[in-house]
Amino acid sequence: MDIEQTFVMIKPDGVQRMLTGEIISRFEKKGLKISAMKMLIINKDMAEEHYSEHKGKPFYESLINFIISGPVIAFILEGPGAISIVRKLVGATDPADAEPGSIRGDHVIFTTYNIIHSSDSTNSAGREISLFFKKEEIFNYSLKIGKYLFSS
Ligand code: PPS
Repeated sequence: MDIEQTFVMIKPDGVQRMLTGEIISRFEKKGLKISAMKMLIINKDMAEEHYSEHKGKPFYESLINFIISGPVIAFILEGPGAISIVRKLVGATDPADAEPGSIRGDHVIFTTYNIIHSSDSTNSAGREISLFFKKEEIFNYSLKIGKYLFSS
């Protein structure tokens, strides 16, 4: 399995509900490596670029307004097959389909306020990582302890 990088964002409701530690802990326990992380408030231009593929959908305006409404935590996770593994840990968009045990399955009841975003493909991961992070903000290091050892 190739080592992949994926983009993850704890949305404003995840920060407000103080679920940041709980969410990051799940990824670390799985064995995914954090390559970059920051808190920021997204401006409207950046939000529109991030969600450009959804422009015109009924929920688009509310999604943009929601995502700029407060600080988010943006990070990059790295590991073998990281993109699909993170999507599984996050759970389905529709709370009714999100499996118990997934982040959304355990914590989300409204689609609009679904606490977390993760890249859905290699292309999205590349695009989203370069939208949120400069090269010098991404750390290339090896995990030297623990049971999941890998280098980037
Ligand atoms: S679609 O229509 O299948 O492309 O939508 P989907 O990929 O499931 O979701 C795209 C992003 O929009 C968010 N979303 C919503 N936000 C607010 N209200 C409603 N009703 C809604 N439906 C979907 C959804 O969470 C996706 O955002 P991210 O950040 O990727 O989770």
